[in-house]
Parts: sequence; structure tokens; C-alpha cells
Amino acid sequence: MKYMRLGQSDLLVPRLALGCMRMSALSLTEAKQVIQQCLDLGINFFDHADIYGKGQSERIFGQAIKELGLEREQVIIQSKCGIRPGFFDFSKEHILAAVDGILERLQTDYLDLLVLHRPDTLWEPEEVAAAFSSLKEQGKVRHFGLSNVNRYQMELLQAYWQEPLLVNQLQVSLVHTPMIDAGLQVNMLTEGGLNRDGGILDYCRLRGVTIQAWSPFMIDLAQGTFFDHPDYPELNHVLAELADSKGVSVEAIATAFLLRHPAQMQVLVGSMNPDRLQKIAAASQVELSRQEWYRLYLSAGKELP
Ligand SMILES: NC(=O)c1ccc[n+]([C@@H]2O[C@H](COP(=O)([O-])OP(=O)(O)OC[C@H]3O[C@@H](n4cnc5c(N)ncnc54)[C@H](OP(=O)(O)O)[C@@H]3O)[C@@H](O)[C@H]2O)c1
Repeated sequence: MKYMRLGQSDLLVPRLALGCMRMSALSLTEAKQVIQQCLDLGINFFDHADIYGKGQSERIFGQAIKELGLEREQVIIQSKCGIRPGFFDFSKEHILAAVDGILERLQTDYLDLLVLHRPDTLWEPEEVAAAFSSLKEQGKVRHFGLSNVNRYQMELLQAYWQEPLLVNQLQVSLVHTPMIDAGLQVNMLTEGGLNRDGGILDYCRLRGVTIQAWSPFMIDLAQGTFFDHPDYPELNHVLAELADSKGVSVEAIATAFLLRHPAQMQVLVGSMNPDRLQKIAAASQVELSRQEWYRLYLSAGKELP
């Protein structure tokens, strides 16, 4: 596994992290196997949210960590809050209450990172900053980040919260690249040229914010992953050819595509299958040339000017 500094912090983190959204479906024994596999592969960073499995993902993870006999410092735990049934809530009251629930379910005293899950248009950034201050003072949260936000939303909060936000969690995969497309088709009247995020990719690079790529293999929930998907024959052909030539799996190549970008993204992998996790982790050994990267990009149906 390769490691990097998260955002502008000193926190050393693996390039791949386990997204625990689907952990609620596992038995305790299976959860322990998945966590142990991650640790064996050098993946000691785990992403949660209070809503995953209505809290069950955090609950099972907390119990698994306890039964595995792990020290708290052996794992880096991030969780998210701010999504409630039918609405978004970045109020101070809700953030503080949500963190107490998260800590209880995870059976821990602190989070390494708290991330606000999806922007609440009714938010007051000074209220969020006050919530962050209180959580930090109480030792409940060490660092903070945002998710699914644009440049101005990050700047708005940074006008009130003085510490650097470390991460922005965004959907990025071989088949979901609007933030990359827009930068390749500047000022063009094309679909790809639409700037949907205010230039978030370059903004994060400029400010040293780590983009955490979510759903690295999924088309969407209904269609599943792009592996062997009939809509992506060329992509699967190129994935297979590169996997063969480099002696790794197609999953490793698809992951390496994200790791190769100089934005230094951290990839949130959601598989709960220990064998797949092993195949995916091999991505950290893969070197993709510039030409290979563009070939993959184009094979997913993208265009260059
Ligand atoms: N901030 C946000 O709004 C947001 C939104 C969504 C997700 N996330 C985070 O991102 C993490 C990853 O998201 P995700 O689970 O959608 O991502 P993913 O890694 O793209 O997808 C994983 C899913 O694909 C399945 N799968 C089928 N074939 C696969 C293959 N060959 N290789 C790998 N997986 C395969 C996995 O099943 P198996 O388990 O059987 O392998 C699993 O159900 C989540 O756990 C969560 O932490 C954040």
C-alpha cells in the first residue's frame, strides 16, 4: 500500500480506504474478516456515515474492532452526518447530537475526521464552525471535511472555520468524470464542457484538499458496476488488456486510473469481499503511463477536443 498526507494535515493515510456503507449487511464474523483483510493490506482508514444501514454499519464496525482487540490508534475512523430522512441538516444542534450517536455506535471516544455528508442549503456557516469548535474542544473530533460540495461552499465555511478542511468526498470513477471532462473542454459548447462543480478538481489541488473518490466502480445503484457491463464493451476490453499486460486484475487497473491523477485522490472502495479487496489493493503497485490513462478515459466513452 502507498500512503499520503491527508489534506494539509500530518495524518498519514493509505491511498485506498474502505467505505463501510455496505457493512451493515454483514455478520459480525464477516465484518471482522473484511476489517482484518484491510489491515493486512495496509488499509487502516475506514469511512462511515451515521445513515449507513441506519447506524448498523457503525455498530457492527465498533463491535468488530473491539473483538479484534485493536487499539484505537491502529485505525483511522471517519464518519459523516447531515443527511436526515427527507432533508439535510447542518444545524449545530444536529451535528453535535449526530456525533454523540456516531461515537456511541462505534464504541470510541473520538473521530479522526468528521465530514458533512451533503450540502444543506439552509446552513449557516458560522453555526457549523461553532459546532466544529465545540467538537474539537471536547476532543470528540480531530479534523473536519465536507462532501459533495463545490468551491464556494468550501470557501464559505473556511471564512468562519480557520483550520483547513481536509477532504471533499465526491463521486469519481472511469464512468463518472464531469470534473475531469470540464477541464478538458474549457469554453466548448459540448456536454462534457459543462462545468457542474465550479472547478472543484483544480480548486482542491490549489488548496491541498484531498478528494475522496466515492463509488469508484459503480455506474449507479440500479446498474451496478461497469465491470462486464454491456454498455461498456470498449472499456472492459481495454481494462482486460492492461490488466493482462501488467499482471493484475481489472479492478486494480480501474483503481489505478484514479490513483494516477496528480490530484492525489484517496479512493473509497466499497467492496465487502476480502478476495476482491486484495485484487483492488494491487492498484498501488500499478504504474499507468499518460498514454494508458488517456486510453482508458476514451474507452469509457469520453471525448477529447
Ligand atoms: N459521500 C457520499 O455521498 C457517498 C456516496 C456513496 C458512497 N460513499 C462512500 O464510498 C464508498 C464506496 O462506494 P460504493 O460502495 O458505491 O463503491 P464501489 O466500490 O464502486 O462499489 C462496491 C460495490 O460493487 C460491488 N461489486 C461488484 N463487482 C465488483 C468488482 N468486480 N469489484 C469491486 N466491487 C464490485 C461490491 O460488491 P461486493 O461487496 O460483493 O464486492 C459492492 O456492492 C461507500 O462505502 C461510502 O463509504 C460516499
